[in-house]
Amino acid sequence: MVDYREDIEYSKKVEKRKESTLSFICPKKHYVRKEGWLTIARNRKEVVSSRVETQGYIRYFSLCGKEAIDVLLFEREGIIRANARGYPDVCYCDFVEDNPLEFAKLKETLGKTKGFNMRFEELVYDGSFQKLVQNEPFDVVNLDFCGSCFPKHDAPDSKTLRAIECVLKLQSAVSFNLFITFRAQRSSENSGAIKELRDVMEKNLSQFSDFKSVYEEKIGFPLNILCENDYPSFLLHTFPKILLGFGNNYNLGGECIRRFYYKRKEGEYKIVKFIFSFEPRRENNRFSDRSRKTVQLANAYHKSIINCLKNSPINVDDVLTNKPSLRAKLNNDQEDLIKNRGKFKI
Ligand SMILES: C[S@@+](CC[C@H](N)C(=O)[O-])C[C@H]1O[C@@H](n2cnc3c(N)ncnc32)[C@H](O)[C@@H]1O
Repeated sequence: MVDYREDIEYSKKVEKRKESTLSFICPKKHYVRKEGWLTIARNRKEVVSSRVETQGYIRYFSLCGKEAIDVLLFEREGIIRANARGYPDVCYCDFVEDNPLEFAKLKETLGKTKGFNMRFEELVYDGSFQKLVQNEPFDVVNLDFCGSCFPKHDAPDSKTLRAIECVLKLQSAVSFNLFITFRAQRSSENSGAIKELRDVMEKNLSQFSDFKSVYEEKIGFPLNILCENDYPSFLLHTFPKILLGFGNNYNLGGECIRRFYYKRKEGEYKIVKFIFSFEPRRENNRFSDRSRKTVQLANAYHKSIINCLKNSPINVDDVLTNKPSLRAKLNNDQEDLIKNRGKFKI
């Protein structure tokens, strides 16, 4: 008798993959691409407009997925350049756990653009990311993860977090934007990591009255309740502190300039998105005294955390509710972008 179990398993995997590929074609996601990523990338392009090596275009790193809609959007909007072979200032990395062959499909969209078929974390740990940025650091790094920031099976300071910290270290000589996306689903995350983050934030709230008053004004109930009852919101309000702290370690001044969130799978979990801006801190020669410099740095870091709390995150579900025309416009725009892919010879 023929055993079809393997076939059945395979088609389940394909279905799963189809589902996740489809999930990148989503009006909510496209809203953030356009209102968040594109706006910030445009500003960044202004900053690099006189750079000769890239003819004023930005250098972009992305976990772009098979459709690479972010890359297609940036090209159409004149943020990145294309040549006959691909995108010379773009680099991507993609790893699909249950189907590594998916990577080949990216070439259909991206031609000979530099790409790595591996986990982003490995790209950082094996030194490849360092080689990439040594002479040509990125202007925008887009870490559009599908998973969570503190996976259950990982240590509290997860591999992903450590890799992100490494990116900040390697990029610390230049100003750049960092986009980060995570799935926020309490049940699939590491409770040790969540507790550590909550403890640090609680300590800060009890230490700094200005921080406490902004927190109370914006959120209104204690951190432990927020963490239990609305984990995505907890993450939106606490994760920036980790990243701004990493920046501070490498003398990068940072701001979390935008945050977005929206429901997936009818509220089974939420997607949270952060947009950061980092800039190397200039030495202030007025302060030759080392301890005064340290105080200055601590103040700037503290201010950036408070600034982040002052701007509320954008609820994309709310923005799109009862706006069928905006949804349709976003869907059409994605379809148009995808239609135009596949122009490079491979
Ligand atoms: C959300 S999609 C990217 C969508 C794209 N940025 C866009 O705007 O359409 C994320 C892609 O990165 C891959 N990915 C997720 N986590 C990864 C990791 N840690 N390392 C490498 N690739 C990863 C996923 O397989 C997926 O193809």
